[in-house]
Amino acid sequence: MGKKNKLQKFEDLKIFKNVLEFPEDIKGNWNNKVFKNNNPIILELACGKGDYSLAMAERFPDKNYIGVDIKGARIWVGANKAIQEKQDNVAFLRAYIEDLINYFETEEIQEIWITFPDPYLKDSKAKKRLTSERFLKMYRALLPESGVVHLKTDSAPLFEFTLESIAKDKTIIQNASRNIYAEATLEPLLDIQTYYERMHLRDGRNIHYVRFQFVD
Ligand SMILES: C[S@@+](CC[C@H](N)C(=O)[O-])C[C@H]1O[C@@H](n2cnc3c(N)ncnc32)[C@H](O)[C@@H]1O
Repeated sequence: MGKKNKLQKFEDLKIFKNVLEFPEDIKGNWNNKVFKNNNPIILELACGKGDYSLAMAERFPDKNYIGVDIKGARIWVGANKAIQEKQDNVAFLRAYIEDLINYFETEEIQEIWITFPDPYLKDSKAKKRLTSERFLKMYRALLPESGVVHLKTDSAPLFEFTLESIAKDKTIIQNASRNIYAEATLEPLLDIQTYYERMHLRDGRNIHYVRFQFVD
């Protein structure tokens, strides 16, 4: 079959077993209803085509990965790959990240990756940035004590905003770089490149990374 159009992809999403669209009654039930095991769950927020989720899931079969994004046609790409590759430790949630608290129980997830989120550079949109105060509050509520969040971005303003935002919260920065490929050593998981990252690298942009931990 040739390339599918958006409408066909949306139809597929309804039957893909690894995609949940605005689900009800999933909060607290991901492991027993979706993964059927008790492995730790890691989220990829703004996952797009789910490159990080798929790559990490392949490296760590004993962990479960959920990519979250609102755009169905992008999620379709990752979900379809996971089905083709029989990667049953990856799932996708189509939802607004603002609403995560409706889909996950406290401490249901172990770790969060945020991969190349829209930077929302206008001041009027600052609240939409995925590392603004209200999002940090929500991540803290969902993660276990000392939960870890990773952010990868090409946007220097979003990166600096994030450093300010986490400095106002009780956090410890575990690692930070304004150009990961200029560092002497690249952290193991930072070699995974997303669709957007590859585009940014072709445009000669620096890739920024910060990993922080919530503390009391
Ligand atoms: C620039 S793309 C990055 C996609 C992917 N992580 C990559 O690096 O290729 C940003 C993604 O974030 C998603 N997104 C942004 N804000 C969102 C929100 N509040 N809730 C759900 N998805 C969101 C968009 O739909 C888009 O797919």
